[in-house]
Amino acid sequence: MPYPLDRSVAASVPVLALENFTVSVRTGAHALAIVQDLDISIARGETLGIVGESGCGKSITWLAALRLAGDKVATSGRVLLHGQDITQLSERSLARIRGGKIGMVFQDPTSSLDPVQRIGRQIGESLKLHQGLSGSAARAEAERLLDRVGIADAQARLDQYPHELSGGMNQRVMIAIALAGQPDILVADEPTTALDATVQAQILDLLRDIGRDTGMGLVLISHDLGVIADMCERVAVMYAGRLVETGPATALLAMPRHPYTRGLIAALPDLEGPRMRLTPIQGTVSAPDALPPGCAFAPRCLMAGAACRRAIPALTQVSDLAHSVACFRNDAFTATAVAEQARQLSRIPA
Ligand SMILES: Nc1ncnc2c1ncn2[C@@H]1O[C@H](COP(=O)(O)OP(=O)(O)OP(=O)(O)O)[C@@H](O)[C@H]1O
Ligand code: SF4
Ligand SMILES: [Mg+2]
Repeated sequence: MPYPLDRSVAASVPVLALENFTVSVRTGAHALAIVQDLDISIARGETLGIVGESGCGKSITWLAALRLAGDKVATSGRVLLHGQDITQLSERSLARIRGGKIGMVFQDPTSSLDPVQRIGRQIGESLKLHQGLSGSAARAEAERLLDRVGIADAQARLDQYPHELSGGMNQRVMIAIALAGQPDILVADEPTTALDATVQAQILDLLRDIGRDTGMGLVLISHDLGVIADMCERVAVMYAGRLVETGPATALLAMPRHPYTRGLIAALPDLEGPRMRLTPIQGTVSAPDALPPGCAFAPRCLMAGAACRRAIPALTQVSDLAHSVACFRNDAFTATAVAEQARQLSRIPA
């Protein structure tokens, strides 16, 4: 890992916590649960990676937590910012928190930036709303922020429109806008997926540096476990709307206990090993309205037994490193068995 877990930081009061958080969608007279019973917390300066296949509920969790998912989506449970439940706040109060204490960066900057507003003005709006800055003070701060996110010739860029910048530059502008709110925590949902590998690495480095310099917490959502492994101190693995494994990145990646996590890790390319044909985990995630009874992963799990099809396994702590797993057979693996399972599951010699 790029930097060690600071236990004093990890032990402090969470900046943001989801408690027993459930998201459901209203369809006619019914409500369909799409995310269930999440308990997640992020400490000051901590980097939490959320990983899982497409449709697992990574995005809707955070959109719903910030009341940005539309009026068909309802939530229950608590969203605690520095201990205060923001689900109880008025829309006006919550609007000040979004883009303020909680910054957000989404995958596609072109849909988040206003194409007919100059960059400087868009950063300036956030500076005005969250820091009360205007005029030359706002312009100077906007220039400093653009410089901070690594955009050269920041003064000239302030007067340009999004279409005059590259995709990577616009993504940096999005990060500058988020930083203008002086967030305590940044939720970055696939912030680099659309970018080429070099720009991706630069932006991830930037987010890591900012976290280190300011103490900002980071929730990094990604389907790419390699990115999460490089960036995060702690990892939460989601499957079909639930947390199935969570723990310190070092422990979880070295000794994954859930068969789904093991499959994700086994599907990672090994750059130093012999060339292999990679096979992702067989099958697909069940849709929220077609979940099987019992463990949602059972239809794809080589370990599934009768008990797995009867009840949903609870997230259970499996080590004193706060490593937790939701699997009835989480104790069935040693390091050797894990390696063997990974080889059998996902690697077929080319
Ligand atoms: N506004 C919404 N209304 C109804 N259902 C939704 C809504 N947003 C998401 N869903 C459903 O919730 C589930 C989780 O979607 P979500 O977008 O959170 O997945 P994800 O893990 O972010 O996937 P991806 O990696 O593709 O971004 C999916 O089944 C999706 O169809
Ligand atoms: S509970 Fe059973 S089906 Fe679910 S992941 Fe564990 S072994 Fe597989
Ligand atoms: Mg998503």
